[in-house]
Amino acid sequence: MSASRGLGTGGRLAGRLVALGVTGSIAAYRAVELLRLLTAEGADVVVLLSPSATRFMGPLTFAALSRHPVETELLELLPDGRIGHIVIADSADVIVVAPATAHWLGAMANGLAGDVVTAACLATSAPVVVAPAMDGDMWKHPATQANVARLRDAFGYVIVAPEAGPLASRQSGVGRLAGLPAIVDAVVAAVAGRRIRQSNAAARPPLATTPPREADLVGRHVVVTAGGTREPIDPVRYIGNRSTGKMGVAIAEAALERGAAVTLIAANVGVSLPEDRARVVRVETAGELRAELLDALFGEPGAPGAPETARFDVLVMAAAVADFTPARPAGQKLTRGKGMNLELQPTPDLLAEVARIARGLDSTGSATRAPVRPTPVLVGFAAETGSLDRAADKLSAKRVDLLVANDVAEAGSGFGSDTNRVVILDAAGGRDELPLLPKREVADRLLDRVAAALDERDAAGQTARMQEAQQ
Ligand code: CTP
Repeated sequence: MSASRGLGTGGRLAGRLVALGVTGSIAAYRAVELLRLLTAEGADVVVLLSPSATRFMGPLTFAALSRHPVETELLELLPDGRIGHIVIADSADVIVVAPATAHWLGAMANGLAGDVVTAACLATSAPVVVAPAMDGDMWKHPATQANVARLRDAFGYVIVAPEAGPLASRQSGVGRLAGLPAIVDAVVAAVAGRRIRQSNAAARPPLATTPPREADLVGRHVVVTAGGTREPIDPVRYIGNRSTGKMGVAIAEAALERGAAVTLIAANVGVSLPEDRARVVRVETAGELRAELLDALFGEPGAPGAPETARFDVLVMAAAVADFTPARPAGQKLTRGKGMNLELQPTPDLLAEVARIARGLDSTGSATRAPVRPTPVLVGFAAETGSLDRAADKLSAKRVDLLVANDVAEAGSGFGSDTNRVVILDAAGGRDELPLLPKREVADRLLDRVAAALDERDAAGQTARMQEAQQ
């Protein structure tokens, strides 16, 4: 997300303010991905939700991803007394309404400004792009077609026509929201050659101060690993690393405050743990971590056959797992000799193993069975020194949804510090570069992404079930 804002490079919408109006269709969940694609093009995006859209998607998801408060109420003023939808109408370079329902098209065609999306469109001189989504018969109805024609011909709006395919109404026909890249292309084309309307940030919609987090993880089981493993050389000595567990514990604490049930698998942490509120499991070695992790996630460590049900919704693998372990740890304390050669063997990549199990793949990466249900959200960490170039490869090699990369050599970002500067990479290629923040705020920014991914997963699952039922 916010690739251009974060990286300072220009996308096709760099410097533009895009207002994204979402109305109450089942396709509302796709507006989250559209928001990501728009920000990846460099746009500053502000979201307006009609009252029925808020029944499909909560404003918090959009606020967290857009970094602006979401406009939902026509009659509510901004904290500074300005009228939110008018500020958006006056400063946006383009308004894109996606998905647009049949009802909304009718209201707009008749100038009925009963919700913030219609009101902003009425009040703006910016181009408007409309992507309808609805049942096929509704789309074909002469009333809808007349409304669309009026929007296109009389108002000059750009219509991104819906596509053919299976619909939420259990029928097949034309009515599915157009492909998101086509909508982004229409937005880019709509602003091409126009000057930026408002580059003064003070005249644009306000930025969200750190949004207060709601209990958006209630009913979710979040498993977090923290700390660093120790691999015994003998009963006294070990190979370890400098991780204190601060980042992982901050994530566990943040998840607890957002209502999640948390299992915290802690390897040699140097900070106090939320033992009264989370299930805390202490481990020492990579081998113990593996056994406890597989048990917490799938409940059948080492059992033949593969688990079908995930006992967790989210795994955040913040622990620094040793990559090597002594091949033959000594049973007795080794005495000082003339010197010694220590034979090390690699540990299994636990995160990659969990991802393979979750996605139904065998050790060669071939699909051998159905992925576990419900589909979990998998988050890895990558502690690098210097360039973060390898992070994107780690994300795909380990098959995770999100990867939090940081340069541990950077001041204020390393082991034991209370702050961290991270880049959150996602499987769609997005990069969100966060500034130096307290680890607790990094944890909440990460969980904003996780909560949004879970909402998307649930909405997509619901749509898939409806489609299955109709076949
Ligand atoms: N990880 C794991 N099992 C391992 C090593 C790492 O599950 N044996 C997880 C870490 O918890 C982290 C992610 O993989 O979430 C990336 O860890 P990192 O040490 O950065 O990457 P490696 O895979 O160990 O690669 P390298 O050591 O080459 O950087």
